[in-house]
Amino acid sequence: MLVLPKGVRHIPAALSTDAQHALVDEIRAIVARAPLYIPAMPRTGKEMSVRMTNCGSLGWVTDKERGYRYQPEHPVTGAPWPPIPASLMEIWETYSGYPHPPEACLVNFYAGSAKMGLHQDRDEANFDAPVVSISLGDTCLFRVGETTRGGRTVSFKLDSGDIVMLGGEGRLCFHGVDRIYPATSALLKNGGRINLTLRRVTKP
Ligand code: SIN
Ligand code: FE2
Repeated sequence: MLVLPKGVRHIPAALSTDAQHALVDEIRAIVARAPLYIPAMPRTGKEMSVRMTNCGSLGWVTDKERGYRYQPEHPVTGAPWPPIPASLMEIWETYSGYPHPPEACLVNFYAGSAKMGLHQDRDEANFDAPVVSISLGDTCLFRVGETTRGGRTVSFKLDSGDIVMLGGEGRLCFHGVDRIYPATSALLKNGGRINLTLRRVTKP
């Protein structure tokens, strides 16, 4: 059996097919208002392979000049992020165990060859709340490690409708996406994978 680091939870099939379709519709509406943009690494400016947008009062962004940060507006359009839909607020209430609402929902879109290197989610001023992560569309190979770089890692697949939580002792575990398995889900008509991460950013 796969042993996950303490504080890391994988909840397979947390969302019904209907709930997944409804979420995709919500995400389409968000992307229409806040288009996916190409994030770039701090300093080097190397483009990431995922495409990103956000909803919530704060959104996580990155670019060459200013690096990783949260901000209330879209980096390209300058418009405020659309609000987090009620369905995502309910998922947070059901799973997070945290008594205050999330402020940010990062929307990551992975086309067939996109991936994400091992990293920690540590740009928040508050690590008391878990990161609640929702997978939609094609299956991916997810990797999670310890709270220090170079520690042991374990890999497992995330299917559409799965939830992963990084909380408590696992809040700062390294994690990343090694690959997407094309055509493993019919949820997104053009394929690919959407990942939503709900986060509390500030101290309440
Ligand atoms: C992330 O760490 O921002 C994304 C994780 C995922 O795509 O599952
Ligand atoms: Fe992350």
